[in-house]
Amino acid sequence: MINILLIGSGGREHAFSMQLAKSTLCKQLFIMPGNAGTADLGINVDINPLDFPTVGQFCVSNNIELLIVGPEDPLVSGMRNFFEADPLLKNIAFVGPDKMGAQMEGSKDWSKIFMQKHGVPTAAYKTFTQDNLSEGIAYLQNHSLPIVLKADGLAAGKGVLICETREEAVAELQLMIAEKKFGSASAKVVVEEFLKGIELSVFVLTDGKNYQILPSAKDYKRIGEGDAGLNTGGMGAISPLPFANEAYIKKVEERIIIPTINGLQKDGIHYVGFIFIGLMNVNEEPFVIEYNCRMGDPETEVVLPRIQNDLVELMLATAHGNLNTINLRVDPRTATTIMLVSQGYPEAYEKGKVMTQLDGVKDSILFHAGTKRNEQGELISNGGRVLAVTSFGNNIAEALEISKRNAAIIQFENKYYRKDIGYEFI
Ligand code: AMP
Ligand code: GLY
Repeated sequence: MINILLIGSGGREHAFSMQLAKSTLCKQLFIMPGNAGTADLGINVDINPLDFPTVGQFCVSNNIELLIVGPEDPLVSGMRNFFEADPLLKNIAFVGPDKMGAQMEGSKDWSKIFMQKHGVPTAAYKTFTQDNLSEGIAYLQNHSLPIVLKADGLAAGKGVLICETREEAVAELQLMIAEKKFGSASAKVVVEEFLKGIELSVFVLTDGKNYQILPSAKDYKRIGEGDAGLNTGGMGAISPLPFANEAYIKKVEERIIIPTINGLQKDGIHYVGFIFIGLMNVNEEPFVIEYNCRMGDPETEVVLPRIQNDLVELMLATAHGNLNTINLRVDPRTATTIMLVSQGYPEAYEKGKVMTQLDGVKDSILFHAGTKRNEQGELISNGGRVLAVTSFGNNIAEALEISKRNAAIIQFENKYYRKDIGYEFI
């Protein structure tokens, strides 16, 4: 039995916590910083995960033997490198890539160069900075429409713009580079060809040499039904995708996963952790839109519940390089999740709304995202995305019906959610 530290505070981390806490290998689970849901499964720790020395001291004092990083920030900032460099921390089983590996997500330009070098199918592109901005503007004049502009660095999910006209693209490119629209994240901008198709996400767990392909999923990023309105962190998800059958996943494995894993090895990157591959399915052919160095949120809320293996065992096998010994068992049923959000999200919204009727929920799993307890011990909203309602069914429609029924039961002022998750497949 071991003590485990999980970094993060969203629905993704509550989903991880549920599986970690129920493992017979888990002695004590700590979540840093966690939310009201994770507090019922372990001990929430109020330390900023980016304060590596303090996190390190916490690990030593609490005899942590397994550390799992949920979000990208600590990885891109080099949390793994910090742990590897400290004799007191380097033996902790660590799930998450080092700073170099996290560049898969931390720099769009880096990931495009990586894909080109290793023959991974992706959209054609060119990268521009202040130094060749005028060349960039000229390049846009002859570009097919729409034009995709991507801030190179992390921009909290806001750094991708899809421009319908060349004028808009030129204005945005200038704003991003010269006016620092996304701060230093847009000092470099990737200009990319638009790919038309259905998006899906494939998740791979790798120990640096072996890998396991986790269930596929699709998230619904737009705030409004029918995929209208602003982009959010994700309003719901389904797993698996009807078209992502064994033959399709085999194609993804051969064209994308194997070249990616081999490419990392060839480049001398010892990548230990999750690779979230965002794909566009263009006429049955998969193209990579993006890599992320972590699991997705809310995709995790449909992917993890389908994995029947002991999660601690799976994480230890990842950290110790034994993923080849794992026989992944996946629930064949469909899982759907609906995210309950605060009215106004992804723009300004109010927090602190008292939440009730959670006890009335039947046949769904509730994953807390932005929640906490107030001084009276009441559950209150504490973020834009508040609660994910996950359900199983024999198909998307069946699972979604249960999620919708329970989403309606939970009460808090200004609750909003999409009722059409998975609509294109129903
Ligand atoms: P990202 O922030 O990288 O997840 O991108 C946000 C969204 O932009 C993606 O989920 C896609 O819907 C869209 N997107 C990104 N790149 C492309 C592309 N080359 N073609 C079409 N859509 C794209
Ligand atoms: N749901 C998309 C993400 O986690 O990036």
